Amino acid sequence: PRALSSVVALGANIICNKIPGLAPRQRALCQSRPDAIIIIGEGAQLGINECQFQFRYSRWNCSTLGERTVFGQELRVGNREAAFTYAVVAAGVAHAVTKACSQGHLSQCGCDHEKQGFHHYHQEGWKWGGCSANVRYGVEFSRRFVDAREIKKNARRLMNLHNNAAGRKILEERMKLECKCHGVSGSCTTRTCWVTLPKFREIGRLLKERYSAAVQVEPVRASRLRQPSFLRLKGARGYQKPADTDLVYLERSPSYCKEDAATGSTGTRGRRCDSNSTLTDGCGAMCCGRGFDAHRYTRIWQCNCKFHWCCFVQCSTCSEKSEVFTCK
Ligand SMILES: *[C@@H]1O[C@H](CO)[C@@H](O)[C@H](O)[C@H]1NC(C)=O
Ligand SMILES: *[C@@H]1O[C@H](CO)[C@@H](O)[C@H](O)[C@H]1NC(C)=O
Repeated sequence: PRALSSVVALGANIICNKIPGLAPRQRALCQSRPDAIIIIGEGAQLGINECQFQFRYSRWNCSTLGERTVFGQELRVGNREAAFTYAVVAAGVAHAVTKACSQGHLSQCGCDHEKQGFHHYHQEGWKWGGCSANVRYGVEFSRRFVDAREIKKNARRLMNLHNNAAGRKILEERMKLECKCHGVSGSCTTRTCWVTLPKFREIGRLLKERYSAAVQVEPVRASRLRQPSFLRLKGARGYQKPADTDLVYLERSPSYCKEDAATGSTGTRGRRCDSNSTLTDGCGAMCCGRGFDAHRYTRIWQCNCKFHWCCFVQCSTCSEKSEVFTCK
């Protein structure tokens, strides 16, 4: 609401023309729904933040060389990392829009009004109540807005659309039912239930799993048309399509060891690493064998604080020598 009034004050035209990298249909949607564009921006940021969290211990840390857009940096190569980024941003937008609807922050949506009152599918003493999150609205809004940036008719478009849809599908599958019991001393003679959004962290974790299991695909051109019309699993016999919730990629990923503008890799120079870990955050893997620098410092803090009657607190000073390591 704070942001909304400032948007309306500024005028939808000015705002929508100032946002870099919007496709024509996105700009049109922005102008007709200026209140939603703020929520869309927040949703995209939610996705990008989650991406950085999930990849904080990996060589690729969700930063990419390239132009910044509303959806983070542009990813030129259609690899696994691009697949994750598209899925998490599409899910982030759907999550943010659904949440805004439930909170009454968007003018054209609210709680899911189909989930109100008694429902014939459920047993006696069971009814919908409270505010059920309208995830269908959020998903549809994300589809209309996020997918509208895919204007080139190529294989990459098919890849991006598939990953956008997979991210939203995973969100939809994780919607939760919450219930409250009513009746004498908690006897639960009647139950009121409503649908809630999962925490976005859970979606991030699931998408990270899908990222690890991502499948390579290739475009298939229908005979008479030049444009690729669908994707199939690479190397599979026949036309086996990926599953709805698979993340798909067209190209292999680089090692992300060195900076490389062609792949968008920032490299790992200067990244922090753990000298004891043998996992991806260990200096061996993170620094790709180039070695690392140690920085020693002393950490000082207040400790052993005691409350004295009355009324002051006395603390001692503690210190600890510490070391951090960064890749050469
Ligand atoms: C990711 O790594 C790059 C290159 O080392 C660094 O510049 C950037 O700040 C890191 N980003 C995050 C979000 O940690
Ligand atoms: C790494 O291991 C050394 C010795 O085994 C230990 O002294 C040090 O505290 C460990 N460092 C970290 C960051 O866990």
